[in-house]
Amino acid sequence: MDKTILILGACGQIGTELTLALRQKHGGAHIIASDIREHTDNLSISGPFELLDATNYEAIEDVVMHYEVDEIYLMAAMLSATAEKFPSRAWNLNMNSLLNVLNLAKENKIEKVFWPSSIGVFGPNTPKQNTPQHCIMEPSTVYGISKQAGERWCAYYHQKFGVDVRSVRYPGLISWKTLPGGGTTDYAVDIYHKALEKGNYSCFLREDTRLPMMYMEDAIRATLELMESDRGKLTVRSSYNLAGMSFTPAEIAQSIREHLPDFTISYTPDFRQEIADSWPESIDDSQARADWGWMPEFDLQKTTSEMLAGLGK
Ligand code: SER
Repeated sequence: MDKTILILGACGQIGTELTLALRQKHGGAHIIASDIREHTDNLSISGPFELLDATNYEAIEDVVMHYEVDEIYLMAAMLSATAEKFPSRAWNLNMNSLLNVLNLAKENKIEKVFWPSSIGVFGPNTPKQNTPQHCIMEPSTVYGISKQAGERWCAYYHQKFGVDVRSVRYPGLISWKTLPGGGTTDYAVDIYHKALEKGNYSCFLREDTRLPMMYMEDAIRATLELMESDRGKLTVRSSYNLAGMSFTPAEIAQSIREHLPDFTISYTPDFRQEIADSWPESIDDSQARADWGWMPEFDLQKTTSEMLAGLGK
């Protein structure tokens, strides 16, 4: 029998594409989408949808019991830029939702958990290039603190209670199908929209701000590959480093100009510059490659072609 999977935060940037990918793979009936807000049509037509608050343990438990859920993907979170404005709300959402899901697994109500961490776990004292799996972290954002604490909880629940929780540190994610919300890497999606709509873009980061990024198709594939890996192969139970590409705003602008020669960009750094400056420029993901065979497929050129073609439709 097919396993039943619940996605919390299914209406978000990753959750939407993840839900549709899981439904394509396993059929819609066993993939339960849920979010605190009303769903978009494509999430309710292709399978079940539940209105659900990821910070409410009993509400999640009810849905888990009702559908006999085997696995939870917890995609609900407040991202880096928004979390700086609402620190305690970010902490409550990001922490309590994770502890709820880990506790359900600890009580044997579900078998497996996916929870995303982020390059935001790193901080100003972290080595910036080829950031290793294990290094000084010391995040300086509310979001990063919550993700770092979350990683420690995941490792703890695995070690103490045998909970099968799996995680990757996503870089900035780029997709033409869904919009990000409240992140520091959001510019790398917005720039394509503005390039096609207006031919120019005002960037909130400096032109030389290099950050790790990934095309969404790679991110979804990484997630599914990690979740399908043999348990015995996984040596990291906090969260795996995961790399796709790294580029600066100037470089993404140049790659857009190869398709749209008249495209222009200007730079007006705001509070998000400080967040970006505290994060790595590139990530060493050799542990993910060694343990579960991770290999990215999209570089900047391929991403730009896909983004402009996808949005152009
Ligand atoms: N993309 C996220 C952000 O910018 C990082 O995980 O907040």
